[in-house]
Amino acid sequence: MNNLVSMKDLSIDQIHEILNQAQAFRDGNTSSLKSKYTVSNLFFEPSTRTKMSFEMAERKLNLEVLPFEAGFSSTLKGETLYDTVKVLESIGLDALVIRHEQNNYFEELVGKVKPAIINGGDGTGNHPTQSLLDIYTIWQEFGTLLDKKITIVGDINHSRVARSNADAFSRLGAKVQFVCPSEWKGEFEAVHEFDEVIEDSDVLMMLRVQHERHDGKKPFAKEQYHQMYGLTIEREQKMKKSAIIMHPAPFNRGVEIASELVECNRSRIFKQMENGVYVRMAVIEMILKGRE
Ligand code: NCD
Repeated sequence: MNNLVSMKDLSIDQIHEILNQAQAFRDGNTSSLKSKYTVSNLFFEPSTRTKMSFEMAERKLNLEVLPFEAGFSSTLKGETLYDTVKVLESIGLDALVIRHEQNNYFEELVGKVKPAIINGGDGTGNHPTQSLLDIYTIWQEFGTLLDKKITIVGDINHSRVARSNADAFSRLGAKVQFVCPSEWKGEFEAVHEFDEVIEDSDVLMMLRVQHERHDGKKPFAKEQYHQMYGLTIEREQKMKKSAIIMHPAPFNRGVEIASELVECNRSRIFKQMENGVYVRMAVIEMILKGRE
């Protein structure tokens, strides 16, 4: 594997290889990379978790991490993404993690530049490392995704997390279903009433409403959204005993999830963040090993 831009880049075997390696890192294994590689994280959209998690993963792999601040870069002087990446290639970077608001921004880079490209999120398109950490979290919980009922709830159409997960979860044998307002269903078909699917779901994955991708339209007041599509305390009480709550975060308390549920026993939200570091270590190591 030379780059990771979409979950479609990964075979089922490669997904399993990443999960096993993530587990090995969690168990204390250290990097087996032979060279001192240099990487950078280019985030053109806001991020706390993904950017910090990649940086932590890179440091744990003993990589050299060069800081990049999109808000102070020459992209503000009109330099294109491609030209920015060519600059970093010339300077000697081996891998770049990129988050960008443009869907498929990586198409102008992959195969045309030397540094490996790892997608940290492209518009409403893909977020492969989030999907891998979600898979790892579910796998850790149930040992498998096979036949697990995973319900993804919220702003499906504008969510790169939903899009990456829908594909990968199904390939791993899970039964994926969606709950959302009809105007946010995108290409996905089965839309259910939230209350009808709670009791038989093994995982309820809540999503943030992606206001920044809505062109200023606000179809729901916060309270109204919470009542219709939010995980309320009443809904949580109807969940199966073994079922878990997930959310890629950032979460908005009292909108897609009741504040009291964020850290409840079923919540794996902070576990997902913890797992993200190990999964990203596994991905970066796999890609850099391919260059040795
Ligand atoms: C998600 C993203 O950026 O797509 N966040 C994340 O990476 N954990 C979800 C979101 O912003 O709602």
